[in-house]
Amino acid sequence: MSTTDYAPQEREQWGSRLGLILAMAGNAVGLGNFLRFPNQAVQNGGGSFMVAYFISLVLLGIPLMWMEWGIGRRGGTFGHSTAPGMFQSLTKARLVRYLGAIGVVMPLLIVIYYVYIESWTLGYAVSAIGGSLGEAALAGEGSGFFADYLGDGAQLGFLGNETWQGSNQAIVFFVITMAVNLWVLSRGLSKGIEIIAKIGMPVLVLCAVALVARVLTLPDQGGRSVIDGLGIYWVPDWSRLFSSGAEVIWLAAAGQIFFTLSVGSGAINTYASYLSNDDDIALTGLATVSTNEFCEVVLGGTLAIPAAYLFMGIGEVEAASASNMGLAFVTMPQVFANTPLLGADPGASSVAVFGTLWFGLLFVAGITSSLALSQPTMAFLQGSMGLSRRKAALVVGGLIAICVGPVIVIPGVLDEIDYWAGTFGLVLFSTIEVILFMWVFGADRAWAEIHKGSDIQIPRIFKFIMTWVTPLVLLAMLIAWGAQQAWPILTFENSPGGGAYDDAGRTGAVVGRTIMLGMFLLFVSLVFVAARRGNYDKVHQGEAA
Ligand code: TRP
Ligand code: TRP
Repeated sequence: MSTTDYAPQEREQWGSRLGLILAMAGNAVGLGNFLRFPNQAVQNGGGSFMVAYFISLVLLGIPLMWMEWGIGRRGGTFGHSTAPGMFQSLTKARLVRYLGAIGVVMPLLIVIYYVYIESWTLGYAVSAIGGSLGEAALAGEGSGFFADYLGDGAQLGFLGNETWQGSNQAIVFFVITMAVNLWVLSRGLSKGIEIIAKIGMPVLVLCAVALVARVLTLPDQGGRSVIDGLGIYWVPDWSRLFSSGAEVIWLAAAGQIFFTLSVGSGAINTYASYLSNDDDIALTGLATVSTNEFCEVVLGGTLAIPAAYLFMGIGEVEAASASNMGLAFVTMPQVFANTPLLGADPGASSVAVFGTLWFGLLFVAGITSSLALSQPTMAFLQGSMGLSRRKAALVVGGLIAICVGPVIVIPGVLDEIDYWAGTFGLVLFSTIEVILFMWVFGADRAWAEIHKGSDIQIPRIFKFIMTWVTPLVLLAMLIAWGAQQAWPILTFENSPGGGAYDDAGRTGAVVGRTIMLGMFLLFVSLVFVAARRGNYDKVHQGEAA
């Protein structure tokens, strides 16, 4: 069975060019654009963060996007849709297929907590339509509503005597969200993911534009204007970028670039593997970046922060963004409760309308990304393990179901996985990719690979950036991490967020790391099995390596 696994006629393909572009945009545009970006920007100095953000975009984000499309498409022409086979198409060294396992595991680990957060947005959209969110927001009880929704104790319990209170709501919406994801995945690429992207992306942009239009036309409140709120990001501030403590800002900015563009996990590579050598990846890769940045800095940047600032002032905004999810799930409903709807006085119907737009938009943004995060595992189970699409979807669902329990019930597990898989791991995996592609495979061949079938010529300066700047910046980040943070974090002294762990935090970290290690070992073993079946033997055929 092994040799037929990657026969070209069995491989999936994108149905159309437009579908591919929307699917890639859906991959990149996600919760990160509308939740994580505003939080990160406010927490890390607004105008300073944005300077570091755009520099990271040019030196890391765009180059990595092109490289991942190149690596992915090349792997695809050898019949491989996931990193183990893709890496094997760059060099004969066998070790790289095991490094490639990271590119299957990491998106799967991210999707565990990503789908959970995504399910909150669905629950909240339903509560907004049903009116219960509006009641809570009008009564100023947004945070109580959030705690009830999640079933706190959830994040108090476990070690203390309090056990998890359980919340039927959170569980029900999680199960629904998972079911929708698995159903779409089991329909396959062009009949599932691509259709959702074609419907979802326009809906997302329409919802966002409607909300942006409302925010920009809001009258001043208590001497504050929307324009001042925009100034939180848009007034460049170089002063803090080179002072001591500045590395925090740079790391946060680079981390956001990775997360929002979906680079550094293997998810982009998998989508790119379904392309052929006459597709223009230089241009479509850049189009994906542009779409994502438009949705992030223009749409995402104009929604949460300026609106919250207008009604509540900078102190509240900083407090809300420091609690991460507070801004989206607590502050925003409160903002909507104060927002006039078509000239009518603000009230319950404002929360119903704007809340539905906001949480609906988040849900659509979320699902097109969670599908992308699941697809590498789907593709690996089908292409390398020989499972059918339906079976693969069931296995993915099963793995997520096993791991999500601790994420829901034990405090700190979500943050731990977000740190290693959603932040650190992206830097690590990118470093491996750049070295393999630009140095082991070779800069000239890599450059030619990216330009196959392309009408545009990428400015040559980017060849230099990809060969030298991107890897050196990545290595510098890893070395700085190793020197300053690695030891206390690895020995459970300090939490990744900075301060010392308390006992509960340490338990969360132990559980989180056990899950991650277990999944990694599982997929390394599966790569080993695939290799025994001859899956990587043919990769170099027909090509002078
Ligand atoms: N980019 C998506 C967002 O902004 C999330 C995402 C999808 C992602 N695929 C990824 C993040 C791969 C990291 C790695 O929400
Ligand atoms: N630690 C992440 C952060 O600080 C958590 C997070 C916030 C997140 N928003 C998110 C994770 C959206 C996934 C998607 O931003």
